[in-house]
Amino acid sequence: MTTLPPVDRDQLIATRRDLHQHPELGFEERRTGALVAERLERLGYTVQKGVGKTGVVGVRDGAPQGNARCVLIRADMDALPIEEANDVPYRSQHPGKMHACGHDGHVAIGLEVARRFHAAYLPGAVKLAFQPAEEISNGAEAMIAAGVLDGPTVDAAFGIHLWNDLPVGSIAVMAGPMMASVDEFEIAIVGKGGHAAAPHQAIDPVLIAAHMVTGLQSLISRRRNPFEEGVISVTQMNAGHAFNVIPGRATLRGTVRTFGGRFYDEVPRLVEETAQGIAHAFGARAEVRYRRMSKPLVNDPAMTTLMNEAAREIVGPDRLVDGVRTMGGEDMSFFLAKVPGAFAFVGSAPSDGKASPHHSPTFDIDEGSLVIGAELLSRTAVRYLEQGN
Ligand code: NI
Repeated sequence: MTTLPPVDRDQLIATRRDLHQHPELGFEERRTGALVAERLERLGYTVQKGVGKTGVVGVRDGAPQGNARCVLIRADMDALPIEEANDVPYRSQHPGKMHACGHDGHVAIGLEVARRFHAAYLPGAVKLAFQPAEEISNGAEAMIAAGVLDGPTVDAAFGIHLWNDLPVGSIAVMAGPMMASVDEFEIAIVGKGGHAAAPHQAIDPVLIAAHMVTGLQSLISRRRNPFEEGVISVTQMNAGHAFNVIPGRATLRGTVRTFGGRFYDEVPRLVEETAQGIAHAFGARAEVRYRRMSKPLVNDPAMTTLMNEAAREIVGPDRLVDGVRTMGGEDMSFFLAKVPGAFAFVGSAPSDGKASPHHSPTFDIDEGSLVIGAELLSRTAVRYLEQGN
């Protein structure tokens, strides 16, 4: 049996606040990565730096046993281009950058798990993956391409997100898809500019753009099986520069979110066909760029059960919340597409219920959530390793 030292709440909070004051954007996590590497080295971990540009990996081999497993714990490190509006002593010291999603807490939790594991008897190997660039959705892919899942080969992966939609003290983890795929599209409509008073001499890309927005929304209502979740949002429309000139060109940008399934497979083609078809109908041309950014995040049923058992032990059955899903994306999905695992939401809203949403300039967490996050990942990893023996 593995016994772990208690969680060091003060250290967790101090680490999180230090990181909060020094936010770094995706693939720029140099100070954060150096801090992580230094701590892991001091704890005796084998450390690899520059894994997927700015990622850091710490490995601890456990007691060698017959079927010893290797478990990966993932913590994302990046901040957002937001100006912090909180007046707190640990406020961001870097104008225009802020840990507004809680990844500072994820790093602190990952380091606390490392500290608890470094002296403990573990019946297997642990790999701590401190991942860059979650917000721009390619840090996970970069780490996987750099071999984070090999040598020792990872058998399962776990992660958490501090979650301000849930009160501190609660945990939500469910089997199956729980976070959405994230796709991005950009459509350029090439028409013909002219006088606003003589539309018949021009090909008006503004009107075509309006039809295209309707057409794209119709994919959701008419081409998608209503039993498959999906959303399309057109979020940017750009055209024109004068009230009396029909512009020659308009651009649309937006995003598609799904939990996988047939619509997920078909939607790049449907967006292309809709854009081209509508453009042709009006005598214009469309240039479509469609990009998959992250896959749906799918929790493995057995690994979810394991994580739920750990969660129940920590917060009690009444504080386990079932059925929490979001059309938001998360690139932990790339790890979970390669190895079985699970990802949980750890409630971080203050108990007075006054929580600012993620990615807002007043985002902050109840730091009690750090202790729960560290317990959850530690105990889940230990349970997984013990099951292998
Ligand atoms: Ni996040």
